Amino acid sequence: MDKNAIGVFDSGVGGLTVLSDLIDHFPNENFIYLADTKNNPYGLKTKEELESIVSTNVNYFINENVKAIVIACNTASANSYHLKTNIPIIRIIEPTAKYAQQIGKNILVLATDYTISSGIYQHLLNKATGVKCSKFVGIVEKGMMGTKDSYEIVERVLSKYKGKYDTIILGCTHFGLLKDEIISVLGNVNIVDSSLTLSPILNNYIKLNSQKERGKVIINTTGNPKDLKIDWFKKKYDKLSQIILN
Ligand code: DGL
Repeated sequence: MDKNAIGVFDSGVGGLTVLSDLIDHFPNENFIYLADTKNNPYGLKTKEELESIVSTNVNYFINENVKAIVIACNTASANSYHLKTNIPIIRIIEPTAKYAQQIGKNILVLATDYTISSGIYQHLLNKATGVKCSKFVGIVEKGMMGTKDSYEIVERVLSKYKGKYDTIILGCTHFGLLKDEIISVLGNVNIVDSSLTLSPILNNYIKLNSQKERGKVIINTTGNPKDLKIDWFKKKYDKLSQIILN
């Protein structure tokens, strides 16, 4: 892959919500996506484990000569401040918190157990309550969105928060794929999806590609490619022959 690619990674398929938004906004860019399913779920790991995983993924992209790395994962972003690189690292938490702060008064943050325990969102926001939702990650990895089970699991975790918050942060990139379930429990509130907060700021970090044709998108995984449940992504980009699943 040429030097102009942007590296994007997550613990699995959740970060494809970020990649999808980036492709829609920057169709001429080349992307390499790494689904680190071997280490999924990130949200139940320790700080030391996560820092080591993040370093390994970043080194993978540096070897691929990318021009920037997007950490399409809140949990990994919270464990990326030790990195020293010559290329930009683009994290997801700060832009999400900043946007939520502008529109919300009473904010509920749904994120992995690790992200909530780290207190990073609560620290960046004036008033926020965190809910540990690592249980939701497996639903998305297994491709069980929109099923009776997915509605039941989300209902069980979130029903006690109904009607108490004006703004909900989807502080895990997997949760954008459970929006219907989450809205069915929490109703008519502002939804701030962390997956959608990077395209407005990407320009601040990188020089955009000057090529006129559509970019290439390579999807790679540290696990078995056959286990990646990405039908929704393939369907959306059906006509993009440039998508290569390694
Ligand atoms: N998608 C990730 C996030 O945004 C983490 C999911 C996991 O626990 O692996 O935090």
